[in-house]
Amino acid sequence: MDHETAQKQIERIRDEIRRHNRLYYVEDSPEISDAEYDRLFRELLAIEREHPDLVTMDSPSQRVGAAPAEGFSQVRHRVPMLSLQNAMDEGEMREFDARIKRFLGREDDFDFVVEPKFDGLSAELVYENGVFVSGSTRGDGTVGEDVTSNLRTIGSIPLRLDARVPDSTPLFPEPIPKLLEVRGEVYMRKDRFEELNRQREAESEPIFANPRNAAAGSLRQLDPSVTASRPLAFFAYSIGAADGFKPSSQWDLLSRLRGLGFPVCDMARRVNGMDAVMEQYHRMLDSRDKLPFEIDGMVVKVDSFALQRELGEVSRSPRWAIAFKFPPTRETSRIERIVVQVGRTGALTPVAEMTPVRVGGVMVRRATLHNEDEVVRKGVMVGDWVTIQRAGDVIPEVVEVLTDRRDGTEERFVMPTVCPVCGGAANREEGEAVRRCINASCPAQLKERIRHFGSKTAMDIEHLGDKVADQLVDQGLTHDVADLYDLGLEQVMNLERMAEKSAQNLILAIEKSKSRPLSAVVFALGIRHVGEATARGLANHFGSIDAIMAAGEEDLADVEDVGPVVAKSVAGFFKSESNRELVRRLREAGVSMAHEESAEQADPRFAGKTFVLTGTLSSMTRERAKALIMERGGKVASSVSTKTDMVVAGDAAGSKLNKADKLGIPVLGEDEFLDMLGQER
Ligand code: IVH
Repeated sequence: MDHETAQKQIERIRDEIRRHNRLYYVEDSPEISDAEYDRLFRELLAIEREHPDLVTMDSPSQRVGAAPAEGFSQVRHRVPMLSLQNAMDEGEMREFDARIKRFLGREDDFDFVVEPKFDGLSAELVYENGVFVSGSTRGDGTVGEDVTSNLRTIGSIPLRLDARVPDSTPLFPEPIPKLLEVRGEVYMRKDRFEELNRQREAESEPIFANPRNAAAGSLRQLDPSVTASRPLAFFAYSIGAADGFKPSSQWDLLSRLRGLGFPVCDMARRVNGMDAVMEQYHRMLDSRDKLPFEIDGMVVKVDSFALQRELGEVSRSPRWAIAFKFPPTRETSRIERIVVQVGRTGALTPVAEMTPVRVGGVMVRRATLHNEDEVVRKGVMVGDWVTIQRAGDVIPEVVEVLTDRRDGTEERFVMPTVCPVCGGAANREEGEAVRRCINASCPAQLKERIRHFGSKTAMDIEHLGDKVADQLVDQGLTHDVADLYDLGLEQVMNLERMAEKSAQNLILAIEKSKSRPLSAVVFALGIRHVGEATARGLANHFGSIDAIMAAGEEDLADVEDVGPVVAKSVAGFFKSESNRELVRRLREAGVSMAHEESAEQADPRFAGKTFVLTGTLSSMTRERAKALIMERGGKVASSVSTKTDMVVAGDAAGSKLNKADKLGIPVLGEDEFLDMLGQER
């Protein structure tokens, strides 16, 4: 390819990649598959390799490039990065409001913008003539660390500003500013954080205490290729120095930042007066556990920049903004005992039994210590006072020991080398952090396997609760999950507290589970490292259980999101004759294992239809709603147009709802939507 053609091709592919980045990270509505995206990317790399002189700083290929640094150099922020004062309750919020009114000598209510307070670390990104040139951490607010090469690896950070992308741009495209310093939060999603920790655990590396530590640790890596391998994301929420960018208010700022291609959280709202702020606070607090990322409060900002200027700052915090904190999800309590639980893969997990304490509104009695290395690393002893933390619906965990509070009566904990349930050997394989009971018929493992098998996203067997699973194993009625399909009404009725009606319900639910799709069955088998998403990936890729069983490690690693650890685990699982036998018996029992394309796309209310989600759903996250629609063959778009078939409106639905009304597009409330999905609240 001659130089000129290469230049043109490169420009075209870069533009396309940028457009897809934006659709993916900012609009949340990708148009192409990951595989197609990879193909584009490889095409770009190939041409750039041939024409190295055409590689520019803002090329998407430069996200992964830079060599490790010796240390970070320091950068002085052109405009100091302020911090926020905190308010802990409604009273303090009312004081904040009163203070502003006093200061301005006004009595009327102000417009405020409320935003989630993201629990990550703040960073500043500098764009010159629309190109990302450098970036830094907040540091002490005046001087931060230069982490440019690391920030460059974060997919949701635009390397070049682009106001030309249709669909999301305001009526008048934003001109590219000469200088723009964008500030925001680098964070890690909760599911990505857990995945990362699982991976680290499997590789015997120390795990991160929470998504914020994981994000901070990942951004402050001297080797950018390490940062590149970590699932970091970014939300923009303010600016530093700017030339050629003059928003008039916080609300205007957010929409313009979005227009320039920055990810801006769609939970921000503009409201009038403190009562409305309080309402938003409760709404955000309620949705906190369901969000895909952690937030530790709400930031309340006076909307108008003119008023902000008038209010100014005091002791390094603006007078016009405040962080309204949520009740803490960390508490201290004392470890009364350490017990060892056995999970479905035989993993022995030390669990601290605590003096009960309320954490973020939930009573906590037990907190996980993960594994024996963690007990050693944290130096936990029985009788210790510790900090425990609850993050969303994750199991509470012990974060650290308060060694100052020791009085000498604490006792060391020794991890047993036999399974506390079956008494069989519990081994720790080389390179593994976890000790496992190796007895495949250990009742504790079996109980967990049955519970997992029957869970909602697996075989969805209603009425198969913990107590029932325990009894089925204890009474010798089930030796593996396939035995569930041989259970008779009589046997079930003989279980404790099982009336005829409930027994019938259970038998019916077991019967119904036979039509669960392939992905659910693969997930239900409880293969190590195979979560819902991986199971779906395997089902989509191979299309049948036989094909999955026949696949070698290499074939498995071809599947999207399946790395070598997962591939090894899946291949190992199906190499075992007893597991193959189990699948055979499930099939003989009538479990269909049909791939969902035939099983689920049949839903005509979803198949081929385009949905738009707006507002906050109280029963699920937007991600989840999207997944449920897509599972049924529907599509989800980010904005309402004549092509939209249906709009799902949650709380505080905004302009999309108005547009739907204008275009006469049917709007579903949350209850109707749940009905349509066949889900309960
Ligand atoms: S505005 C002066 N908005 O909170 C304005 N900050 O204590 C300061 N943070 O270091 C920043 N979410 O890391 C703002 N929506 C949000 C935020 C937010 C989280 C963090 C940020 C900052 C700290 C301030």
